[in-house]
Amino acid sequence: MIYRAAIFDLDGVIADTARLHLIAWQQLAEGLNLPWTADTEERLKGLERMASLEVILGEKSSNYTEEAKIALAARKNSRYQELIRSLSPADLLPGAGELLAWLNSQHIPVGLASASKNAPAVLEALGISRCFSVIADPEKSAPKPAPDIFLAAAKGLGIDPEFCIAFEDAPAGVSAIKSADGMTAVGIGNPDSLKDADYMLDSLEQFVPNDFFLSVLAESGMRQNKDLAVNE
Ligand code: G6P
Ligand code: MG
Repeated sequence: MIYRAAIFDLDGVIADTARLHLIAWQQLAEGLNLPWTADTEERLKGLERMASLEVILGEKSSNYTEEAKIALAARKNSRYQELIRSLSPADLLPGAGELLAWLNSQHIPVGLASASKNAPAVLEALGISRCFSVIADPEKSAPKPAPDIFLAAAKGLGIDPEFCIAFEDAPAGVSAIKSADGMTAVGIGNPDSLKDADYMLDSLEQFVPNDFFLSVLAESGMRQNKDLAVNE
């Protein structure tokens, strides 16, 4: 399959910010004397803020009012925002900057499908905002594992989901891609928890874009012929 667009998750795919989310959540959990179990980290990946808080609170959830929960989520977010203040282009994960530059050079549309409301600030700090032509708004999409944010990114790019390849480090994110109308999922990281991904990589550094994309530049004259575009 030859793809026409790339869609990226942010945290844990483009930058090591999944780690910063975890630090902020872990500090909140410690402050509340809540347990941090072995699987907490994997379960938190890709979950939006309030769903993440529910994982942290676990069976203690009913002890907190909605108002108290909103205050706890805001506390975690302030800590996270402190942590991302020090981000710079040096914090791009291996291969991310190179892949984005290649996609831009080939005029292949690039979208972001992150659950994080902090994503625009993170992209800015990493110096890569201009690499993305679409940043899907997590406040307008049902959270992952629903496919909505990936479908919104594809729609914003004007490319059918089946011609989009998307990159994710979280089980919830891979599930979202796999239910996004034929979109292809590349899992980054832990192969045990990303079994549903179509391809699995340790990092974006291993991804060879020439094998996957039809450059809009090289495509001239073939645009109307769908059969040519999807040849294996
Ligand atoms: C991403 C991260 C999650 C985070 C979520 C919401 O999906 O993987 O760990 O909870 O975004 O982020 P936010 O910055 O809006 O709290
Ligand atoms: Mg992620």
